[in-house]
Amino acid sequence: MLLFGGTGDLVTRKLLPALYRRYAAGQVSEESRVVGIARSALTRAEYLHQAESACREFLGEEFDAQRWTAFAALLDYLKVDVHSARDYEPLTAGLAGREGHVRVFFYSTASTLFATITEQLAAAGIVTALSRVVLEKPLGNDVASADLINQQVGAVFTEQQIYRIDHYLGKEAVQNLMALRFGNALFEPLWRRGLIKHVQITVAEELGVERRGTFYDSTGALRDMVQNHLLQLLCIMAMEPPASSDPDAVRDEKLKVLRALRPLRDRDVLVKTVRGQYRAGSVHGKMVPGYLEEADISPESTTETFVALKVEIDTWRWAGVPFYLRTGKRLQDRVTELVVTFDDVPHPIFEKAATAEAANLLVIRLQPDESITLTILAKNPGEGMRLKPVNLALDLGETFKTRSLDAYERLLMDTVKGNLTLFMRRDELDAAWRWIDPIIAGWHEFDERPKSYIAGSWGPAASSALIGRDGFEWHDDT
Ligand code: BG6
Repeated sequence: MLLFGGTGDLVTRKLLPALYRRYAAGQVSEESRVVGIARSALTRAEYLHQAESACREFLGEEFDAQRWTAFAALLDYLKVDVHSARDYEPLTAGLAGREGHVRVFFYSTASTLFATITEQLAAAGIVTALSRVVLEKPLGNDVASADLINQQVGAVFTEQQIYRIDHYLGKEAVQNLMALRFGNALFEPLWRRGLIKHVQITVAEELGVERRGTFYDSTGALRDMVQNHLLQLLCIMAMEPPASSDPDAVRDEKLKVLRALRPLRDRDVLVKTVRGQYRAGSVHGKMVPGYLEEADISPESTTETFVALKVEIDTWRWAGVPFYLRTGKRLQDRVTELVVTFDDVPHPIFEKAATAEAANLLVIRLQPDESITLTILAKNPGEGMRLKPVNLALDLGETFKTRSLDAYERLLMDTVKGNLTLFMRRDELDAAWRWIDPIIAGWHEFDERPKSYIAGSWGPAASSALIGRDGFEWHDDT
């Protein structure tokens, strides 16, 4: 496994700890080799030192010094300027004789380098039939740039060898959503217009832009989160049952959802989207600076750190059912949840409960804890027929009492095993960008600047107004 961008945050803080855990679980054979590749002139010992301290910090009590020493024996480092053919020679030499092994090239670099690395790997003769390439998001920043990267990488690797990462698909809870929908007959008949009023998807973060100012300022929340993570969650919520769990059967169904998203064009963006940008405030009692005061952010930046959208899916199943999506940085809590609000009874025979709005909900929480809660109305004990919302709650952590795999543990192992189900296919990526591009164009056309919100809140007031216009509220407001 060759990790380009080997000294970056993703490799040291996510991929190496994930590989260590899989090693500890006995899934990484002693013949395996993991090579960090980057531009810095580091010795192997220096790289191992960096990797060890990152893993220690990330893994906490799970870190075991003896096991680390065994795992570190599989690790190596190579200084490569990705543009220089000569720098790939040690790789060619090191890989000679290992043609029968799976090779994973993981590109954890800016996507502008993907084409160069691919060409150089091909020229160095190290791309074999058993090779796979993993492309970390963001893949381009619009339809055209994503298409170009896909063409360039596709000139060397077949589609079956290309693993486009969306780490949300690797999360245990996302898989649980599939289990809930397609492992039980119970929900399927309810999963449609006429029985569902609306669906909310929230991915809220407490963190700000951290050390990624330069990247984030040219990206924004729509491209960073919605184009990939939120749309993928939407697909899994909304897709038709696939005929099998085969990668292409699943991806075909997700693609149909993406292609059925009603385009947001021209003035739609003013009504159906909200852009926000945080200003200074406090998150869980800690004062934090505003976006414009963060490192590497232009003081005049109009990049959005929050976005809310009303999305409609033009299919028989979903016609008339709005999906409200929102995501943002520096919000009040870290929470990722999907909320399905079921219809009211057609003919109420009991007095309407004051809190009825909080019932008839299915809340699937992905983060920070994994749970599935169905809120129904039950009779309040005592005289009279007063109804009250109560929860049927499943805490997945408590039920299974085992640690869930981190998304990257699962995804890395899937690349080695050759399972593409949890990776985005080229046509999915293309369809997602085709829906996103007009929104960005609309924002430019109407000079739609982000509305400010205080760090530690739930985003700009316009976000509550967006959903409020349809007579609904965000789940946390209820
Ligand atoms: C990444 C985004 O893809 O996902 C980050 O680039 C974001 O901006 C992160 O913070 C959120 O992932 P998670 O797994 O922490 O919810």
